Amino acid sequence: MNLTPAHDTPQLRGPVPLSHLLIRQFTGSGDHVVDATCGNGHDTLLLAELIGSQGRLWAFDIQQKAVDATAARLAEAGCTAAVEIIRGGHETMAQHCSGPVKAVVFNLGYLPGGDHALVTLPESTLAALEQSYAILQPGGIVVITLYPGHEGGAQERTLLEARLAQLPAAGFHVWRMGQINVPATAPYVVLVQKAL
Ligand SMILES: C[S@@+](CC[C@H](N)C(=O)[O-])C[C@H]1O[C@@H](n2cnc3c(N)ncnc32)[C@H](O)[C@@H]1O
Repeated sequence: MNLTPAHDTPQLRGPVPLSHLLIRQFTGSGDHVVDATCGNGHDTLLLAELIGSQGRLWAFDIQQKAVDATAARLAEAGCTAAVEIIRGGHETMAQHCSGPVKAVVFNLGYLPGGDHALVTLPESTLAALEQSYAILQPGGIVVITLYPGHEGGAQERTLLEARLAQLPAAGFHVWRMGQINVPATAPYVVLVQKAL
């Protein structure tokens, strides 16, 4: 049997492997997708590999360092997907991305190995999240990894969860997925699926 990414079971050591499991489940060849926080490009590369040469991907980050790291990672991997890396805030998503898209991925917080003061912020993350719903195709997903443990992270979680709780249950399936045997401030995943 050939092992495809869909059959590959990551070790679920934390929220990012869980987010990848979800991305693999819901994203495939030819899809249009968004990486709202490309950082060092790990999520972007996964998305690019899944959508392949027929797909389209928009990747955002406010830091040039992140844009460069993502571009280098894609080039090194010989990525063939059509990827547009945008140095700018994900709150401008509606200006750049034409829907419908299959997945929008947020990995919040700061750039690992970078300036910890340059974090995602509650209001701009919320603005981007709300733009995501508009471009999402039915059955499409938004995957968010939240980090309540860092400075400002708890406020971001509080604002996002309050608004996520207001999404109509008939239109959106909204899940909070966190480990139980870790501190309450540990990162966790929220999955939003637009109903069919
Ligand atoms: C946890 S890192 C992302 C990790 C990345 N997905 C990866 O696979 O390496 C969070 C990133 O969000 C970026 N960021 C902060 N505010 C942003 C905004 N308004 N729009 C887009 N990116 C932002 C930071 O610069 C940082 O690189």
